[in-house]
Amino acid sequence: MTAVREFNFGAGMPDPATFPAQALADAAARVLPHHAMDLSKYPDRMGLPALRQIAADRFERNHGMRVPIENIVLTNGSMQGLMLVAQALAIQRKPLIVEEFTYVGTLNVFRKHQADLVPVPLDDQGMRVDALEEELDRLSAIGRTPTCIYTIASHQNPSGTTLPLDRREKLVELATKHQTVIVEDDCYADVQFTKHAVPAMYKLAEPGRVLYLGSFSKILGPGVRLGYFMAPEPLLSEMLSWKIDGGTSNLSALIVAEYFKEHLWSHIDEANAAVKQKLDTLLAALEHEFAGMDITWTKPDGGLFTWISLPAGTDRARVQALAKERGIVYATGQAFDSLNRDVPYLRLAYGFIANDDIPEGVRLLAECVKLSLPVGAGRR
Ligand SMILES: Cc1ncc(COP(=O)(O)O)c(C=O)c1O
Repeated sequence: MTAVREFNFGAGMPDPATFPAQALADAAARVLPHHAMDLSKYPDRMGLPALRQIAADRFERNHGMRVPIENIVLTNGSMQGLMLVAQALAIQRKPLIVEEFTYVGTLNVFRKHQADLVPVPLDDQGMRVDALEEELDRLSAIGRTPTCIYTIASHQNPSGTTLPLDRREKLVELATKHQTVIVEDDCYADVQFTKHAVPAMYKLAEPGRVLYLGSFSKILGPGVRLGYFMAPEPLLSEMLSWKIDGGTSNLSALIVAEYFKEHLWSHIDEANAAVKQKLDTLLAALEHEFAGMDITWTKPDGGLFTWISLPAGTDRARVQALAKERGIVYATGQAFDSLNRDVPYLRLAYGFIANDDIPEGVRLLAECVKLSLPVGAGRR
């Protein structure tokens, strides 16, 4: 049996070819001999100060706000930050607002904690704050306050959308009015193809209104397992009190901090150039394969995903079965649906797959979709 060639549009990861393996090995060789004490004992509860400093520098350069490192805690990926959110905010059986389609890892955590998920629709500019206002009013009328509003405001996973400034201001205003916390998951910060980041809500809101989650996974690689959260007191201590894990690896943090001390922005530029090229290839291939059809896709200006909308009656199970036969991996719309509905979408990730594989992968995927369309549908 010959192995099927794989086209992996499933992995939400940066380009492996830009992973700086040698530079990290050099950084390790430079830094480790001087840090016997950091490695022979348990890490600082808040994580290695040098890497928290880099997180602070990163935020300052993007948003012009200096966050003291006393308000930054390293985590084992931002995923751990999400788990701490669920624990610190005691989300069990209480309403929790999410974008109607959101990161599957977040859904897993929130569902495991039995949160009562309240979806707010998305459009091409992210969360619809008019619909959010209605939801908050509705909840308030029945005496329920959400434990938080969780949002991936920049380069949303899965939709690739970014919430503009006016909507961020409105979201902050609504959270303040309803006395709830915004959890701003900024995992895709700096996977950004235009020059300026839209201001983070952490900067726009009064201190304590926003809990910010950051990550090094999407600008470097998820294998380093390094993320962080930012929050002032008392939120910070509440989060920290749940971080019962012996600390975040100093080995990983030392090496990454040493490398990023000099190379943070040059690495980001290089990684983004590679990912942007793949996005351009993907968008051209989609245009070529689906032109004139009743199929749309988002055109992100950052992040790692485009979100494809299929005609409602498309046989999604058939698309998937056919795709599997052809070695195509992608994420189904259902994986991201906060209510676990089988919605007519699919998500393509473009960071991991080789640029040269994209046109053929999209051609094969289009074949699967066209074979699964409802009778008489599909052409505009
Ligand atoms: C929105 C979002 N948040 C958090 C994560 C978790 O990332 P990590 O734990 O690697 O930092 C991901 C990963 O895909 C994500 O898309």
